[in-house]
Amino acid sequence: MAQLKILLAHPSLEWLETSAKVLSDSGYEVITADKGKVAQISISQEKFFTAIISEELQSHTGAQVLKFAKSNSTGLTVIFLAEEYEGDKWIKLGAKTVFPLAATIEEIMRTIEGGKNVNELLAGMKRREGVSDEVEVSGEDTEFTKIKIGEFYSSKAVLFDVFIQLNSGKYIKILHAGDTFDQQRIDKYKNDKKIEYLWFKKTDRAKYLKYQAHLTTKIISSEKVPIEMKARFLKNVTSKYVEEVMSEGLKPQIIEQGKQICEQVFQLVDKEKNLAKLLRGYQEFDPTSVDHSYLVTLFTTSIIKQFEWQSQATIETASMACMFHDIGKMKMPERLLEVRPGDMSAEDLELYQNHPVLGAEMVDGNNLINNSVKQIIIQHHEYFDGTGFPFKKKGAKILTLANIIALVDDFVHIMVERKMKPTDALKFILMDPLKVARYNTIIVENFIKIFVEPEKMKIIIPTQ
Ligand SMILES: [Fe+2]
Ligand SMILES: [Fe+2]
Repeated sequence: MAQLKILLAHPSLEWLETSAKVLSDSGYEVITADKGKVAQISISQEKFFTAIISEELQSHTGAQVLKFAKSNSTGLTVIFLAEEYEGDKWIKLGAKTVFPLAATIEEIMRTIEGGKNVNELLAGMKRREGVSDEVEVSGEDTEFTKIKIGEFYSSKAVLFDVFIQLNSGKYIKILHAGDTFDQQRIDKYKNDKKIEYLWFKKTDRAKYLKYQAHLTTKIISSEKVPIEMKARFLKNVTSKYVEEVMSEGLKPQIIEQGKQICEQVFQLVDKEKNLAKLLRGYQEFDPTSVDHSYLVTLFTTSIIKQFEWQSQATIETASMACMFHDIGKMKMPERLLEVRPGDMSAEDLELYQNHPVLGAEMVDGNNLINNSVKQIIIQHHEYFDGTGFPFKKKGAKILTLANIIALVDDFVHIMVERKMKPTDALKFILMDPLKVARYNTIIVENFIKIFVEPEKMKIIIPTQ
């Protein structure tokens, strides 16, 4: 994962040194400045995701640097250290959060991280040997999120409370945060009581994601784990991730987590010998929209792999665009989410067709998401023949990566809504000339190739 850069601007060299050490130990790249002027030069030259600026800076005061950052680096998060809070004066000037001058870097970091990392979570948790007793609790169903019981992985200890649902509003807490993870107990629920899902609180989703990210890294690179299991694992992580984005928005750590998931999806696509078999056999038709981003990312990156011009940067851009392509739907009236575009009134259709623009606006100015991602989001429903939306762009006016996503997006909808095998969904598109005309031919050709093992391809393609 590329390191996130943080700017520390503070008059005390001693403070800079100790704080920089703490941050770089946590994986950040740190640039320091002891003068306001130096801080401004750094801000104009480098891309930071957070700047921590002290009011006490000399030669350009902290307030001047804050104003400079606000007008020269949109999207930069500034944490301001001020003598006195003075209402929301600093917030108005562009600071995201204000801390007193005496705040420790650890306190500030908690704001940056939006929580703690897995190691801290594990270290700070009271471990209990064994497991606690079951407790029945009532709670709103909307407070909980579920995961298939067979797909629940954990090690040593669980980081959050785990429940099973008795019926709507009634849950049993079966594992408490800090309990030793008990596979036998999980198996008992699964096999004897035929429990299908485990539940946890939505407020624990960030913990779940951090924990899963940590496990995924191990699982994806292991040769012992079958590809189907890796794919399922990534699907679960991605789905919960998309839920988190939907409820928390594009916070820096959330975006970084997205990049990490994208990298892991690509690692799966890139390294696995049995990829074509996995893609052909893909058979999970969960219609929930949260799985949609995962499927679009998986198939898009598989297609891109077929192109000769693909590079690490292209793949990163494309997979981020896949992950966030429909983020604009968050800003649409909620009732539209349940309706298929084909069944919408003319007015609603117009609102729906604006979601690529809304999405692009949401990532605009976010310095962790590059401009190409934004362009792809805006174009992800444009068609090669000019029949797409929102701008009815045509042919070469459409970015190739956007046209790939348009194809995969249509393909995924057909596959999931009609419960078709991937290869049948592809045939469904190929058999309809009106559909085929929507995509650049070369993209369609490369899409077909992803379902064929590379060694068989040599026999299919005749040599001259
Ligand atoms: Fe879309
Ligand atoms: Fe979509």
